Amino acid sequence: MRRNYTAIDRFIISLDGALRMATGLSEGGQRENPAGDIPDMVMDEKNRQHAAGLMRINHAGEICAQALYAGQAATARSPKVQAEMQQAANEEIDHLSWCKARLDELDSQPSRLDPLWYAGSFAIGAIAGLAGDGWSLGFLKETENQVEAHLEGHIDKLPAEDARSRAILDQMKIDEARHAQMAADSGAYDLPQPVRDLMKLTADAMKAIAYRI
Ligand SMILES: [Fe+2]
Ligand SMILES: [Fe+2]
Repeated sequence: MRRNYTAIDRFIISLDGALRMATGLSEGGQRENPAGDIPDMVMDEKNRQHAAGLMRINHAGEICAQALYAGQAATARSPKVQAEMQQAANEEIDHLSWCKARLDELDSQPSRLDPLWYAGSFAIGAIAGLAGDGWSLGFLKETENQVEAHLEGHIDKLPAEDARSRAILDQMKIDEARHAQMAADSGAYDLPQPVRDLMKLTADAMKAIAYRI
């Protein structure tokens, strides 16, 4: 029998799932880690900490992605868009688990503010969902475009010897471009420039904080 969940039910279920995954309590990922058997080169302390800071940002970004899509799915009007949001969130689970695995290898940990990133992003996603499916898909598309551009920057910023992190980010970048295309194909509206700017500003604040804590 199919249960009908309220938006609050969905928030609690998705928060529980994401935090279990983020803290390593559940398995999550389905695809092979793209870092595969690429050698884990020894880095000096400064580079190790820098790589860990960058991967902590990417892990926090994936926590936000889980929350955004869960929030959007919770308030989506059409079952089709709801299913697409859920599908996007499922694919992001791989990204979350790969980033967590790399943070472990770098002897580091996810952002201590993960629950805050999750709650804030869920609220933003729910608002996007309430604006209607065309806008919600537009928000997804813009998010994925911005993440893709961000990953490009991080790939350049990683220490040269950190090929394992780079392999993970390369695959994520390919996936995020596909998610943006999916949203475009489903009828995403183009967001107004001020909204895009605000999204970028919010993401920049999160990145500056998550690099450190
Ligand atoms: Fe992702
Ligand atoms: Fe994505």
